[in-house]
Amino acid sequence: QAQIGLMGAMDKEIVLLKSKIENLDSTQIGGQQFYSGTLSGQEVILCKSGIGKAQAAMTTTLLATTFKVTQIWFTGIAGAAKPDLEVLDIVIGNAFFQHDFDTHTFDGKVGLAPGADENGFFYPSMGLQQMAFEAAVKAFGTEKVHEGLIVTGDQFIDDPQKIRMLFETYGASAVEMEGAAVAQIAQNFQIPYVIIRSISDKADGNATQTYQEIARKAAKISETVILNMILEI
Ligand code: ADE
Repeated sequence: QAQIGLMGAMDKEIVLLKSKIENLDSTQIGGQQFYSGTLSGQEVILCKSGIGKAQAAMTTTLLATTFKVTQIWFTGIAGAAKPDLEVLDIVIGNAFFQHDFDTHTFDGKVGLAPGADENGFFYPSMGLQQMAFEAAVKAFGTEKVHEGLIVTGDQFIDDPQKIRMLFETYGASAVEMEGAAVAQIAQNFQIPYVIIRSISDKADGNATQTYQEIARKAAKISETVILNMILEI
């Protein structure tokens, strides 16, 4: 029987999932709250990692070791990097990259985190990615759902030049602050994972304001994809 670890970075990214869990129980480890119970009969552990790569890595480690999850499904919001993405679109990550991992003075490259391939990429479970894509298309329609590279760093991007660079240099579809850290640690533990993001802003000069207006609505879209995936397993 699968034991699914559900993760989001912030309260606003997991509230809908938390409200749907039955037989809810909770434990705290290292200041992190973990909620266990069932969603449509499926056993899940839900947690909030906190913002950024370090928190995401810690939480992924605890899901793998203490909770022995067999899969990790990450839900949340992101800034758009690819110009044709709109606010409230969905991006399912098909690769992950740490844009602030920079050893270029030694090897000429950015993103070469331990375990990444020679271009700095980590890859999700193809089966889970496919399942997320189908659940997202079914719920929101094909025009709203994209698959692409998600780039991660410990920075909220609200700079048109920086976001254009992330698109042009690395081919980023979306930018956020946890995905590639979850990917790195999940790969270490050989746990299949998928990362689903809904766009809350365009990571440009208006990003901070747009984010504040849209975040919760975007977060709910990504959570809905997770709820629909649960119905399919
Ligand atoms: N998450 C949502 N929007 C973001 C942005 N612009 N930069 C980084 N993480 C984000």
